[in-house]
Amino acid sequence: MNEEQKKAVLAKYQRALQKGERFWPDSLYKDLIVSMGLFLLLILLATFVGIPNEPKADPSDSSYIPKPEWYFLFLFKFLALYGQIPLLGKIEWIATVLIPSAVILGMILLPFLDQNPYRHYTRRVLALTIMAVFVVSMITLTMMADYPTAVDEQGHLTLPTWLQMIGGLLIPGATYLTLLVLAALAKKLGAAARRAQIGVAAISSVLMFGLAIAVMLVSPRPVVAESEVADTLAEKFALGADLYSIYCTECHGADGEVTVITGVEGLEGREIVAINNPDLMYTNSDETLANIIAYGLPSLGMPPFGKAYGGELGPSEIEYIVTFMRYSWDDRAELPADAAISSIPELAPGEIPSYEVHIAALTKRYCLSCHRPGKENNNYLMTSYEEIIGMSDNGPAIVAGDPNSLLLLLIQGQEQTDKNGDPIRAMPPNKLMDPKYIEMWKLWVLNGMPKTAEDARTLSPTPSP
Ligand code: HEC
Ligand code: HEC
Repeated sequence: MNEEQKKAVLAKYQRALQKGERFWPDSLYKDLIVSMGLFLLLILLATFVGIPNEPKADPSDSSYIPKPEWYFLFLFKFLALYGQIPLLGKIEWIATVLIPSAVILGMILLPFLDQNPYRHYTRRVLALTIMAVFVVSMITLTMMADYPTAVDEQGHLTLPTWLQMIGGLLIPGATYLTLLVLAALAKKLGAAARRAQIGVAAISSVLMFGLAIAVMLVSPRPVVAESEVADTLAEKFALGADLYSIYCTECHGADGEVTVITGVEGLEGREIVAINNPDLMYTNSDETLANIIAYGLPSLGMPPFGKAYGGELGPSEIEYIVTFMRYSWDDRAELPADAAISSIPELAPGEIPSYEVHIAALTKRYCLSCHRPGKENNNYLMTSYEEIIGMSDNGPAIVAGDPNSLLLLLIQGQEQTDKNGDPIRAMPPNKLMDPKYIEMWKLWVLNGMPKTAEDARTLSPTPSP
């Protein structure tokens, strides 16, 4: 800057001072309004959008993959991609310490390095283009962060990973270099160099976005946590009811009412207390119940369910089951109205039940606990429509339209004999279902076992006007 320019700038500054724009209170006032706006926006977001909860922490779960907060994701993706570079990728501190420090240092030194007297954006092309490319690469790295940086069996990068490497490292790196070279040439080329800088930044931004979208399209879906998370009491109760049906019904019955275990290998005929009795609820706190479920009662024959003890349930899931038990069997606990939903839909007059709406829910509640893989059930699995209508040890359990289908006879309490002359007990072995549910099964089989509600509706007699 020469003396002439300095004077001009100083004069301009004096004029601005005269006009009366002061740091205090004018500038601060503007800042205050903007930060107030942001603050309100945060409160609104937290109130109406929020972030989803994760399941309760489970110290015994070694498969948990911690994920950084979203605003750090770009850095983690950068690290993951950097790690794939041959040779250099092994020297981790370059990416974890050196490069981030260099960027921060650059920011701090920027006012000293960039002594450009002009503030107008057309005169600050280098700073603006570099910043723009930087922001775009932060955004695109974040977009790609959920997709794995994968190698195939031979250790080669997969196609999506190649796209990530190009869009996440190669293009931004090459762009910074080009921008700097063009800046060095600016003295000679003048306006042409500035136009070239803008062009380069724009093209590479478009390429980066394009590649990020391509990665999202060609990558396999990112893994999401499989266990469901409940926030409200109603949701906890509903999830707990489902989990109870699957894990506890086989021994304790659909409603905790069983006093003699029936149909469970190794515990046949064992007498137990009905767990739906209020006394048991009075004498056991939620914590004790959760512990019983987690550790089981191995000496009495109840297996442990907690993951830490060899079972399949995490702490949240156990909590949901306890919620279900407490609000079902403790007469002091009253379930809020919105949670008191029965999980099995009633039939409207003339309606024909369908697998999706009625039978799946019935099966989950009364049968699945035993009729899933790994249990004794004459190889009759009931986890899907295809399995239910398929074959088991003694032929198809149901035949469309046949009121004497094996399953229908069993659920009506009529014991049968199998091919070898051994008895097949009534189903469920411990206690028959409510008659209205038995009717539902019958109606379903007699009408040809429609899968979807849509299928069932085409069968239904059209209601007379
Ligand atoms: C393989 C059979 C089996 C399964 C499955 C099972 N239990 Fe048990 N449970 C038992 C036996 C046996 C006892 C001992 C009862 C007794 O001796 O009176 C028991 C006892 C209990 C008790 C304690 C009763 C008391 O007297 O204090 C509770 C509560 C309980 N079970 C809850 C559950 C829950 C909840 C589940 C599902 C997560 C479950 N059980 C799954 C077999 C089982
Ligand atoms: C407590 C565990 C248990 C429950 C709950 C249960 N089952 Fe079973 N089921 C068995 C066992 C064990 C067998 C093998 C026969 C036997 O031991 O009596 C079986 C066999 C069957 C068979 C005969 C399959 C064949 O080819 O021999 C049918 C059909 C059946 N169950 C239907 C049902 C239905 C429908 C429900 C729900 C309404 C149900 N079961 C609930 C344990 C159970």
